[in-house]
Amino acid sequence: MNVLVPEPTSLVNPGFYGTGGPHSVWRRMREHDPVHWHEPAQYPGFWSLTRYDDIRAASCDARVFSSAQGILLRPVALGVDPGGGRTLALTDPPRHRALRSLVADWFTTRSVRDLEDGMRGAVRDVVAHAMELEECDFVTDIAARLPLYVICRLMGVPATEQELLFSLTSKAFAAGAPEVRSAAHQQIMQYFADLMYRRMNEPADDLVSALVMGEIDGELFSEEEILLNCDNLLVGGTENVRLAVSGGMRTFLDHPDDWKRLREDRGLLPTAVEEVLRWTSSATHVMRTVTEPVVLHGREIHAGDRVVLWIPSANRDELRFEDPDRFDIGRRPNRHLALGAGEHFCLGGMLARAEMRIFFTELLDSVKGIEQTGPAVPVESIVVSGVEHLPVRLKAK
Ligand code: HEM
Repeated sequence: MNVLVPEPTSLVNPGFYGTGGPHSVWRRMREHDPVHWHEPAQYPGFWSLTRYDDIRAASCDARVFSSAQGILLRPVALGVDPGGGRTLALTDPPRHRALRSLVADWFTTRSVRDLEDGMRGAVRDVVAHAMELEECDFVTDIAARLPLYVICRLMGVPATEQELLFSLTSKAFAAGAPEVRSAAHQQIMQYFADLMYRRMNEPADDLVSALVMGEIDGELFSEEEILLNCDNLLVGGTENVRLAVSGGMRTFLDHPDDWKRLREDRGLLPTAVEEVLRWTSSATHVMRTVTEPVVLHGREIHAGDRVVLWIPSANRDELRFEDPDRFDIGRRPNRHLALGAGEHFCLGGMLARAEMRIFFTELLDSVKGIEQTGPAVPVESIVVSGVEHLPVRLKAK
């Protein structure tokens, strides 16, 4: 292997992300070693898939590539994922389909459209407030706000309690002392436990009630299953949108001509959103466990082996995308895998696209200029990628 390109082992080092380094490793693996075995160490042994076609095929074959053992690499020391076989993202069909159909109504085109006026109002307020500040953090003051508002609306969190949840999620998902994050996470679970009991007594038209009242094969969910699914929805619904919007803004700050082009031609908004999703690929990996032997590019994968799908690598695969390392807001076709594929395709995909469209529209409509006032701080994680902080100044029109 080329000595200038770091070894694939660097992919499990959180500090390696944010340097741009992983893309050189993935490029090399796509070309020379598309099914790579990682020896067990801090993480159990696993295979890495880096090519678009392989990642898409694995995502679309839920029978052989199972999610029920967990979908993220977990340090050996942490043991098995408690959500395995119990949350939407961590179940296989047929249970997965039954669970998904219980909550799917909140994510249809119609439901997303019904939310749009509220979303626009929420973004308008957030941007107006940010413009009053001399300087703000694009990630926490702007991008984090709408996804939390939306998931609170869907889950039935009363407006008066949203600020509390915002402050808890900011602590739980931010970099910082693990004790602070873990304490905030405990408080979030406690919050949802209280909400769950309220909905048991008085069901409403929201996702928590759907989980409380829902049943599969005549059986209600346990309290723990309800809470794990609430957590899954909260994390899924907030973290990735925040990262995609702020990663997109950072990219536009680096490519001001594209921002200008979008300002002048709003017809580019749908393709721009897809390109931001492809470019930022905020979900860095998902994992599967193989249920029967598979041979891929001559490598023998055994039943029980873990397989990691590196999504940003698929989205830069030169066999699938023309000029993949170019950010092109008019890119067509753009069948990226940023939202996954197959059985577990992102439930909130349509919602995420609407949120991104609304964010960028409001910023283009109300803000004359956006100036970066300090260095962007990258997220250091092997699970999600993007920026943790992005100091900016918004100039009013
Ligand atoms: C830009 C934003 C988003 C990105 C990049 C993203 C990415 C993904 C990806 C890659 C998957 C597939 C996981 C797998 O294959 O195992 C997924 C699944 C999921 N996402 Fe998203 N997501 C985003 C926004 C959202 C939103 C707004 C929600 C709303 C609640 C959401 C909820 C979920 C859920 C519940 C699943 C599991 C679906 C299932 O297993 O059937 N996501 N997401």
